[in-house]
Amino acid sequence: MKLNDFKLECYFGQYEFTAPYLLTQSDCESMTTNELLSLEPGAKEDYLNQWLGYTETWGDPELRELIAGLYKGMAAEDILVFHGAQEAIFGYMNVMLQEGDHMIAMYPNYQSAYEVANSVPNCEFSKWYIKDDGEKWTLDFDELERLIKPNTKVLAVNSPNNPTGYTFTNAEIKKLCEICKRYDLYLFADEVYKGLEMDGEKREWMADEYDKCVSLGVMSKAYGLAGLRVGWLASKDHEVLENVVKFKHYMSICDSAPSEFLSKVALKHSDELLQRSIDIIQDNLKLVDEFFERYPNLFEKKAITCGPVAYHKLLIDMPVKEFCQLAVDKKGVLLLPSDIYGMDDQYFRMGYGRKGVPESLAKFEEFLIEEKFV
Ligand SMILES: Cc1ncc(COP(=O)(O)O)c(C=O)c1O
Repeated sequence: MKLNDFKLECYFGQYEFTAPYLLTQSDCESMTTNELLSLEPGAKEDYLNQWLGYTETWGDPELRELIAGLYKGMAAEDILVFHGAQEAIFGYMNVMLQEGDHMIAMYPNYQSAYEVANSVPNCEFSKWYIKDDGEKWTLDFDELERLIKPNTKVLAVNSPNNPTGYTFTNAEIKKLCEICKRYDLYLFADEVYKGLEMDGEKREWMADEYDKCVSLGVMSKAYGLAGLRVGWLASKDHEVLENVVKFKHYMSICDSAPSEFLSKVALKHSDELLQRSIDIIQDNLKLVDEFFERYPNLFEKKAITCGPVAYHKLLIDMPVKEFCQLAVDKKGVLLLPSDIYGMDDQYFRMGYGRKGVPESLAKFEEFLIEEKFV
């Protein structure tokens, strides 16, 4: 198996821990182990007594129950826990895609959603493009139907989407599931940013709406606990989960016991942690909106209603890749240009879930002034 380089991870490998002003992160503000344990009476003592042997491959039973509780119709046996969302994507795609299959993915998307398809001989991959209508990002469901072929096996969606922030409404989720049902497609729903709805419409998990859907969740993004490396697949399709668990035997085998413990604490305080992330994003959004109002000739702002990331357009002649490179080289401000998503256009990703955004935004503005963009 030959995989193409994961462009985003290569880029972050270079800058994430060296650039001081992170303005593109997709994970929300994290916290210390101490802060997390303080949420639950007695948790500190229990954590110190956590047994450090192997754990169950499917995940800690109580953790699976807590994850299932996030859904409308899932039980613990419908949940398979992984070492991060990334491992779950890799396992699922490897198990599902074989020679001769066709898959469709919303695009742009997190690269691992489609890169396994590219690595399987004779496995075809089509892009369902999220399009810019001048104000916001949109998706055309008729176009999706036109992309479906007799050998289409998997449709991979990501909502809220990284990088555009596009988020299906509940009506669109129903429509999507109806299409999958009509064409008998497996639906891979990457919902790692779920829980960050800011438009008053709490989204359903897609696996609650369609039995051949697996929904992907994680502690990294909305909960701000990326260092735990705990993700999961939820599905009523146990045949799929049974196949993926056999693949997991060749990956992590089982999850980290301390991480499972800490994830349980976090999920017992799920609403509180999600609200903490939403508050940070909303505070940052006010500043970001004012920032974009000051520079209408330089940027076309795309508003977001859910999730921590947005994908804006650079309006000047300079290639966005060069612009972002200059920002990180001159001022240590990290943005993500569209070539990271395999696109040849003028968009760049910003992330609003971190407490450092005001300071990073100020540095970005300094950069614009000092380099005479404004
Ligand atoms: C859409 C999407 N899915 C999955 C992942 C992987 O998440 P994790 O790093 O928690 O494995 C990411 C990380 O950026 C992502 O943006």
